[in-house]
Amino acid sequence: MTKLGTSDLEVSRLCLGGNVFGWTADEETSFAVLDGYARAGGTFVDTADSYSAWAEGHSGGESETIIGKWLRSCGNRDGMVVATKVGMLTGMDDLKAATIERAAEDSLRRLGVDHIDLYYAHRDDPDTPQEETLAAFDRLVRAGKVRHVAASNYTAERLTSALAVSEREGFAKFVALQQAYNLVDRSYEGELSRAVADHGLSSAPYWGLAKGFLTGKYRPGVAVESARAVGASKYLDERGLRILDAVDEVAGNHGTTQAAVALAWLAEQPTVAAPIASARTAEQLADLVPALDLELKADEIAALSAASRV
Ligand SMILES: NC(=O)c1ccc[n+]([C@@H]2O[C@H](COP(=O)([O-])OP(=O)(O)OC[C@H]3O[C@@H](n4cnc5c(N)ncnc54)[C@H](OP(=O)(O)O)[C@@H]3O)[C@@H](O)[C@H]2O)c1
Repeated sequence: MTKLGTSDLEVSRLCLGGNVFGWTADEETSFAVLDGYARAGGTFVDTADSYSAWAEGHSGGESETIIGKWLRSCGNRDGMVVATKVGMLTGMDDLKAATIERAAEDSLRRLGVDHIDLYYAHRDDPDTPQEETLAAFDRLVRAGKVRHVAASNYTAERLTSALAVSEREGFAKFVALQQAYNLVDRSYEGELSRAVADHGLSSAPYWGLAKGFLTGKYRPGVAVESARAVGASKYLDERGLRILDAVDEVAGNHGTTQAAVALAWLAEQPTVAAPIASARTAEQLADLVPALDLELKADEIAALSAASRV
């Protein structure tokens, strides 16, 4: 378990991504994935009001609804840290106070909980004053509807200014940042990770598996059946192959999966509390959960970092 940034939340070293629930995983399969994750010791689930509005016939909230049903069925709501987000659902895709108030009520209802443990601004909204956004988040915290607030997809500059506004106004502060980061995309390292470190925040990086690429299933000449194949297969270049070679070798050393190695590498990076990854089936999940306690050696971490250097 690891403490999340400046919050009092203790989370497992792997966060389960929820964008598949109701999208590429139906309700029964989603329950099997969630059951498997909890059984393996996972305690941190990530979703958003907008999941999975991009799918045909969906309007958003499908993932939260499934997670809510699952929380009720397993009777262990307090054992889970539930994170959701506001600000990207069509028609509610801003961070105005009225949007945040309405979206929070909708998420609480769909999740069937009386509080959200971690409530993210899904992305920055440069058209709404940060004072307005942060005051709305603060009211939710004071009302006990949200335990902690966090940012996703913010620049270093906007994250820093948001923290300064909260400090000045006495508002609840962002405790963590969620942004893309994995062995193939290391753009987080630098200005953004420095801002997170300087303020004592943690990172919960998404696309921990580079949309499936780091499971090792994308190889030259192999056709992959996946809704993410277009996004993931773009990593299959010279550097991508070098990364896969390094991941294969470390996975071989430990008798574990490529996915677990990629996630364990991420969990070891400065500021990272818990990488986020999703699984479409319980079988896929079985490849991810060894990351909950896989310890890589220093030379293995260095070899993976070297292979992925741009
Ligand atoms: N804040 C944001 O803006 C933002 C953006 C994106 C994601 N997120 C969060 O981060 C989470 C993770 O991102 P993600 O789900 O998009 O990408 P990801 O975790 O990098 O990739 C997960 C996908 O890889 C494939 N996979 C997983 N395990 C596998 C295995 N053992 N064998 C083969 N394939 C496997 C599955 O897709 P297929 O089987 O379909 O190939 C799975 O859905 C999301 O669920 C969401 O909670 C947040």
